[in-house]
Amino acid sequence: MDLILFGAPGAGKGTQGALLAEKLGIPRISTGDLLREAVRFGTPLGAKAKEFMDAGDLVPDDVILGLVDEVLGDGRTEKGFILDGFPRTLPQAEALDALMKKAGRKLDRVVVLDVPDEALVQRISGRRTCPECSAVYNIYSDPPIRAGICDKCGNALSERIDDNAETVRKRLQVYNAQTQPLIDYYRSHGAPMATVQGDLEVNEVHDAVVSAIES
Ligand code: AP5
Repeated sequence: MDLILFGAPGAGKGTQGALLAEKLGIPRISTGDLLREAVRFGTPLGAKAKEFMDAGDLVPDDVILGLVDEVLGDGRTEKGFILDGFPRTLPQAEALDALMKKAGRKLDRVVVLDVPDEALVQRISGRRTCPECSAVYNIYSDPPIRAGICDKCGNALSERIDDNAETVRKRLQVYNAQTQPLIDYYRSHGAPMATVQGDLEVNEVHDAVVSAIES
């Protein structure tokens, strides 16, 4: 099962991707998580990516494509994958097409999580993440048991640097200008698409995503 989860910043790609990965037994590949890990460990890739991420801009395509090529070629994705946050530009979508063709694979579903902008801003302002294990919480909809502490590993939770109001506005603009047009790209290429209402409870969205994949 080869899937793409599509949606604006805060639409729930990470949340739904994690649930789906568990249900389907295939890995979620989040370019955002991979980049944050590279920044955290101070790798050359992280050093290249950090200023773009902090400003809410896209990291250059050549950097992202190198990263994705490595991950999709490392054997973990033989049974399938869930792409979260990739592709985000036309060159990225075209590069993915070429990779899939070369591997003799086809996308099984492109799932679009549709969430109104007001809900996105509220969700992002309430997001708290664990820098140690990448668990994601929300102080409004999914708080940890002990405020500010990760339920899974006990580390202190933090806010992402790019989750401030100004950078969120920029990320939404970038999404509308560069990433949303890919929905038409996939539609016009005959990819199997499904749009799911993403502003429901997490489990309701999950059920809708599963139905969309199984239909
Ligand atoms: P990335 O990490 O991919 O960020 P994003 O696309 O902006 O998406 P988010 O992680 O903000 O949101 P999400 O949709 O995963 O929502 P989540 O499930 O966390 O990318 C970050 C940066 O990296 C980019 O800006 C760019 O610089 C760079 N980058 C990454 N990929 C790139 C690429 N391919 N090319 C170039 N640059 C790239 O949910 C959000 C919050 O809402 C959480 O608190 C969650 O608990 C809560 N929530 C989730 N679902 C619900 C619900 N149903 N109801 C209520 N609350 C909910």
